[in-house]
Amino acid sequence: MRVLLAGGAGYIGAHTAVALIEAGHEAVVLDDLSNSSAVAVERVGRITGTTVPLVIGDAAEDAVVAAAFDDHGPFDAIVHLAAFKAVGESTQKPLEYYANNLGTTYALLRVGIARGIRSFLFSSTGTVYSDPADLPFTETSTTSIDLSNAYSKSKRMNEVVLEDVARVNPALSVTSLRYFNPVGAHPSGLIGEDPTGIPNNLMPYVARVAVGSLERVGIFGDDYDTPDGTGQRDYIHVVDLAAGHVAALENAQPGYDVFNLGTGSPVSVLELIAAFERASGRELPREVLPRRAGDVAATYCDPAKAQAELHWQATRTIDDACRDSWNWQSQNPAGYASA
Ligand code: UFG
Repeated sequence: MRVLLAGGAGYIGAHTAVALIEAGHEAVVLDDLSNSSAVAVERVGRITGTTVPLVIGDAAEDAVVAAAFDDHGPFDAIVHLAAFKAVGESTQKPLEYYANNLGTTYALLRVGIARGIRSFLFSSTGTVYSDPADLPFTETSTTSIDLSNAYSKSKRMNEVVLEDVARVNPALSVTSLRYFNPVGAHPSGLIGEDPTGIPNNLMPYVARVAVGSLERVGIFGDDYDTPDGTGQRDYIHVVDLAAGHVAALENAQPGYDVFNLGTGSPVSVLELIAAFERASGRELPREVLPRRAGDVAATYCDPAKAQAELHWQATRTIDDACRDSWNWQSQNPAGYASA
């Protein structure tokens, strides 16, 4: 397959590019580089021994997407990971989040369908599940659009759009992949997560404490109703997540479908910090802080549907993720800017 990877210079996109190429497919990256780096795309080329074309532009503009098809198409599939993703920022800039996160979908679908793509993969989130009584979340668990932030709402809104578009394009395969918490890095240490500024998410924050650029990990609450009182998440190694995209494309069926991509095993904040201490051999200073607004005690999925229908399952552990994340962070203490 020849695949247009919108947002392919980002954290998940770069790993997905590697997985696609290693599985024998061709990838072309479309990215505006607003929160990603051209260095990542070069490094995907280094890992895979290829040159990956990079089209720099906004995937929300039909003309930009059309030019990518003119210059690098035809494409069999579009993988859509082009979105703003900072939860806190999304509550301050809802219009920017809705315009970008929906606008990219509209333009990619309009042009992609006109140009005859067969499959469309969408990057969604496990935060669309809204009822903790449903844990572990299956694809039929209750979802809501009434979520705590514009980022998560934009993901659920996209799914509604995709389902309707699939209905009127019955030959097209449209798949929403609901990611749980992506962590880790490519084992080469060449690509990994490179958030701008102070990381919002736990794993990159912990990695920066380990490398010495941040002082201590703040634990957002230790009084949750969980075994050790800290929040539990379903951390999925980004290399497993990338393999999930390849599996979804290779097993794509006409119509709209949804898959959870996670491990099914919850890990607490304290367990993740302990795993990172083992991986890095460093002691990580920490302090307990108040709960963060909008957080839930626990979220994790039942990944059985992806296993049965996509023949995919996560195989890497939290220790693997911490080892690879530490390898990436210690080789690139300032992320891609270290290059
Ligand atoms: N946490 C801390 N300290 C930190 C950061 C996080 O204790 O410095 C805790 C959180 O309270 C939570 C856990 O670590 O219990 C995980 O938090 P993350 O911010 O890493 O991840 P979230 O589950 O909040 O975020 C996930 C995805 C995001 C997505 C978000 C949507 O990782 O990409 O859901 O709400 F945007």
